Amino acid sequence: MSDFTDISKHYRHSAELQKSAGEQLFGMTVINRTDDVLDLGCGPGHLTAAVRKLTEGRVIGIDPSKGMIEKAEAAYPDQRISFLIGDAEHLDMADAVDVIFCNSTLQWFRDMNSAIANCCRALRSGGRMAVQAPARHRYCPNFVHAAESLLQDDSTRTTFQHFRSPWIFFDTAEEYAEVFERVGFRVLSSEIREVSMMCPPEKVMEMFDTGAAAAYLNPECYDCTFPEDYIANARRVIVQDFARQAGEDNLVNLLFSRIYLIAQKP
Ligand SMILES: C[S@@+](CC[C@H](N)C(=O)[O-])C[C@H]1O[C@@H](n2cnc3c(N)ncnc32)[C@H](O)[C@@H]1O
Repeated sequence: MSDFTDISKHYRHSAELQKSAGEQLFGMTVINRTDDVLDLGCGPGHLTAAVRKLTEGRVIGIDPSKGMIEKAEAAYPDQRISFLIGDAEHLDMADAVDVIFCNSTLQWFRDMNSAIANCCRALRSGGRMAVQAPARHRYCPNFVHAAESLLQDDSTRTTFQHFRSPWIFFDTAEEYAEVFERVGFRVLSSEIREVSMMCPPEKVMEMFDTGAAAAYLNPECYDCTFPEDYIANARRVIVQDFARQAGEDNLVNLLFSRIYLIAQKP
């Protein structure tokens, strides 16, 4: 099984995609010296710790995965960061923070409207929310192709037909902006950027394991029970597909679409 508690065991070292995108978002986010900041979907806390260095205000990291929060607490015990288990849908804060930083997490919100409305309520007037996440339904054609190959293999076809995607994706930056505007935000910028990198198939599988696997290999995202050997078979089929995607140089041209959005509470 792959969920974020499982993934937390190796996330820090393999999550290069989220890390480089997170660094870009970091560069776009204004954090003032006294700002109170919430890192929503903080994972193992490395970006929360980077936020800590920029402000003397309160810094909070929230994540629904117990494993991620335990990792974060163990990694940054002395840095005056409150790491809490929780999720965006149950965020119970009002006029409490100046900045919400949210990297590689938006796609996991189960109820995007109420989650973003909660974020708007949590911010003080003039507060900013900075978001980066995979975007477009074919957010990564390589991962989508590998998942679709589960429908071609006899050992995985029947079970994968029961996969129900938990993700919310939009195909345009305007659609992302609309969701934020609908709950009262003013959107300062919203842009989908295309990223590409050349990677050996094993590295592609590592990146798959830091995020996509938490849906494609998670029984909670299927409306049937898994046969005992499903995860092993699915991993084999996906590994084979990434190997087939590689060129003669044994490198895969890995493509990603990502939304970068900055919104302000009036
Ligand atoms: C790909 S990780 C990103 C972690 C970190 N922000 C980073 O950039 O490395 C996605 C995180 O979102 C968290 N998450 C999933 N659903 C969430 C929700 N509804 N509200 C808040 N966080 C959520 C997961 O537990 C996971 O730690």
